[in-house]
Amino acid sequence: MNDLKRIAVCPGSFDPITYGHLDIIKRASQIFDEVVILISVNAVKTPSFTEAERMMMIKENTNEFDNVVIDVLDGLLADYVKKIGAIAIVKGLRAVSDFEYEFQMALANKKLYNGAETVFLTASSENMYLSSSVVKQIAYFGGDISHFVPNNVLEFIRKRLVKE
Ligand code: PNS
Repeated sequence: MNDLKRIAVCPGSFDPITYGHLDIIKRASQIFDEVVILISVNAVKTPSFTEAERMMMIKENTNEFDNVVIDVLDGLLADYVKKIGAIAIVKGLRAVSDFEYEFQMALANKKLYNGAETVFLTASSENMYLSSSVVKQIAYFGGDISHFVPNNVLEFIRKRLVKE
């Protein structure tokens, strides 16, 4: 257990990072001493971007936060949280539809490691509907996603996902 710093882990696929994620990360960075953005494997999703690409996209948009670091995990979140002595797992909650899934994960993580709490931050109203998959679908059909993701992410999406 790390007694010095109150560390929180912010896990997700971040495939890619959106303004919704960035809002949660910023608010978490104001609550905790250190926030680890943890690019993790969601076993039921096939990512569109490599870990290195996702890392690059996140890095360029979180440089301004001096207590935020980025890491990659190919394993169990609970084990990682225990290993680094984090006290919290921070997740963003959008709508009621998120709740059951997030509640299940929070309980499972608590069972696997009792030393950290899952903390939910409510998404801000303008990000309530925002998800990486919605952004990718809009982009695929040529829609405007500039309100949903930062410029560097926009470029990655244009090159990878926009239908010719
Ligand atoms: O952004 P996502 O895809 O909703 O995030 C889900 C994620 C990656 C946080 C979750 O799948 C996860 O924690 N993966 C790491 C492996 C793990 O610990 N799985 C069990 C969670 S109960």
